[in-house]
Amino acid sequence: MSARDATPYDIDYDEVYRDTADSGGPPWDIGGPQPALAAVLDRGVKGPKVLDIGCGAGDLAIALARRGHQVTAVDISRVAIERARAKAAGEGLTVRFEVQDATRLSLPSAPFDSVFDSGLLHSLVRRGGDAADAYLAALPGLAAPGATVFVLAVSLADGQGWGVTEELLRAGFAEPEWVGTEVEEIQVAAETGGQRLSLPGFLLRTVRALDA
Ligand SMILES: C[S@@+](CC[C@H](N)C(=O)[O-])C[C@H]1O[C@@H](n2cnc3c(N)ncnc32)[C@H](O)[C@@H]1O
Repeated sequence: MSARDATPYDIDYDEVYRDTADSGGPPWDIGGPQPALAAVLDRGVKGPKVLDIGCGAGDLAIALARRGHQVTAVDISRVAIERARAKAAGEGLTVRFEVQDATRLSLPSAPFDSVFDSGLLHSLVRRGGDAADAYLAALPGLAAPGATVFVLAVSLADGQGWGVTEELLRAGFAEPEWVGTEVEEIQVAAETGGQRLSLPGFLLRTVRALDA
């Protein structure tokens, strides 16, 4: 990241993962996929090639690999990726985990048949600058025609002063690049100090247009 890109909400994710290692991980690390995404894992995931962007400690990517998908998963945090690699290796699963910045992705194995974003877009919106726009502009090139994209994000309505709105999500996944966009109100799970929390959020599902 260059100084030009720095904003007041830049977070050092390596530090966050390192500092919380002994207390169960950051609040979003609930030890498994978000419940709203777990519900779609056995239906509606197009394969074989699946991408998880901002994969964190890897539980969603690993759940997808367990179901036989060829999973690539990226995160800006090397600490998170090392943790994710160790978990996958412990289960004997092959997942291509890479340290990459979602605002400047380089993925020669694109395009993918399904793309997952569990909590990344809202992090980029929170960071400000042009991070979310750069990410959203790259997504059509990562999704194969007909691919399904899932985005899970905390709602601005949560009252923490950050998050996304349904309007922002719909504007980011508009026609002609994306079709059939649905935005469902869901609860986003978090865990802090051993306690489960639930935040209002959204699950967006959309399909990459066949001919855009
Ligand atoms: C809210 S966490 C969600 C992690 C994981 N997807 C989950 O559901 O547990 C957001 C993740 O995005 C990663 N992240 C933040 N900015 C990023 C960027 N520019 N490129 C790639 N990953 C990023 C963070 O390191 C963090 O792991």
